Amino acid sequence: MPKWLKDAVFYEIYPQSFYDSNGDGIGDLNGIIEKLDYVKGLGCNALWLNPFYDSPFRDAGYDVRDYKKVAPRYGTKEDAERLFKEAHKRGIHVLIDLVPGHTSDEHEWFQESKKAEKNPYSDRYVWTNGAFSGIEGHPYIAGASERDGCYMLNFFAFQPALNYGFGKVTKDWQKSWDDPACQKTREAMKDVMRFWLDLGCDGFRCDMADSLVKDDDDFDKEHVAMIWRDVRAMLDQDYPEAALVSEWSNPRQAIVKGGFHMDFYLDHWNNGYNSLVRDYEPHPKEDRSYFKKGAGGDINRFLDDYINKYNSSRDKGYISFLTSNHDTPRPKRTLTDEELKLFYAFVLTMPGVPFLYYGDEIGMRYLNLPSKEGGFQRTGSRTPMQWDDSRNKGFSTADPEKLYLPVDDAEGAPSVQAMEGKADSLLETTRSLIKLRHEEEDLQADAAFRPLYSRKGQPYIYQRGDLILAINPDGEKKEVIIPEVEGRKIRFSIHEVGLKGPCLTMGSQSFAVLKE
Ligand code: NOJ
Repeated sequence: MPKWLKDAVFYEIYPQSFYDSNGDGIGDLNGIIEKLDYVKGLGCNALWLNPFYDSPFRDAGYDVRDYKKVAPRYGTKEDAERLFKEAHKRGIHVLIDLVPGHTSDEHEWFQESKKAEKNPYSDRYVWTNGAFSGIEGHPYIAGASERDGCYMLNFFAFQPALNYGFGKVTKDWQKSWDDPACQKTREAMKDVMRFWLDLGCDGFRCDMADSLVKDDDDFDKEHVAMIWRDVRAMLDQDYPEAALVSEWSNPRQAIVKGGFHMDFYLDHWNNGYNSLVRDYEPHPKEDRSYFKKGAGGDINRFLDDYINKYNSSRDKGYISFLTSNHDTPRPKRTLTDEELKLFYAFVLTMPGVPFLYYGDEIGMRYLNLPSKEGGFQRTGSRTPMQWDDSRNKGFSTADPEKLYLPVDDAEGAPSVQAMEGKADSLLETTRSLIKLRHEEEDLQADAAFRPLYSRKGQPYIYQRGDLILAINPDGEKKEVIIPEVEGRKIRFSIHEVGLKGPCLTMGSQSFAVLKE
């Protein structure tokens, strides 16, 4: 386990929208380099960068055309290398996005694979043996090439699934996970990983990590897990400080079986995450989330899901909570800054390794925008970072109509500059919380965790190492008698908190860290 993860606080950067260093309207790698001091000043000591590879950008770069080339709109391979070096100089580790499950249909491998004549790439993707024989239970494309076959999709229509084989082979065109052709796919992906690790990155966020082997058993995903264990073995041997985080959201499979160091706790499969900040479908106006003031929150809706996941994976790796990401609505969509402070306090003090999505630290809003590059409703969470109150909120010097996406400069739009130095602002509160986490080992990734008090409508009280933490998202003051707090001092608080003997008083929308 790379030691640096213990105290890591990640910052996710969507390269197109972070900072435009050359005035062409789109963010770039040099722009990220220019803002590394900001990231460091925030207290974040690790980055996750969304894909910056050559791509036709029909899924914002998750449709990779060349795994080893930086998209010209972001810069060059040398810029990437410089970014890794500059980050390291500041004590910041950099994870980049690996998209192992599919490529763009413009990738050279696929161009070869779709040819009628047999060639070394014929089996790099999942194909049936006839243009009229489809793929039951999976999305596929028929009749699109000279090759007499249908190909399987991994996500959108232009993202053919790479062939890592099937867990259970039921058709003659399906290859088993251990077929030499599938092993070649796996080796090709490891080669991509080595390329970037050798250039200086510190690991990968692995896109749709659970998707590699098709028709694998649902309970264990044993064969998918085996592929990742093999990747992990490569890292352990040759890059022991490199880290992997999975887009999987099943820690038992991803961490325990697959060997991932971290697994995201995503808003998948109604797993409890949504109950925290996004329980408002179909109407954002009716938010029932735990962190929504007055929603009568019940943290048990989350804990019931989380505790098993935590217990089953805690000795092997870390669960990662995110403030949001490029696929989800920003939490500011329904929550106020006061509500967000408590949510971030939670994200930054629960076990595991936390991830902050760029702009969430200032409460950037979710905008209703037309789709851009396959973003669809995700587009509204991908708008340019709001640095200051100058033109384009300091993101770019380009004409506003030339920007990758419009900047939120409507009334009330926050900016870093407007919040900086204001102690009560969301930005400064986030900074203080991150600082606190770095100062208190008991708040870091692997310190023990135990919920102490979790009644509906009452503060949520939990223990990390020797610290006791309490959150009251409600608008009413709450008093709880809890013997464990007796004799403690308030180490950190948001809003009013009182402590008298075993009686803890949590004011409206408050957070407290209590120390012996
Ligand atoms: C998950 C990524 O986060 C998302 O943005 C992308 O569209 C899909 N995987 C497909 O790669």
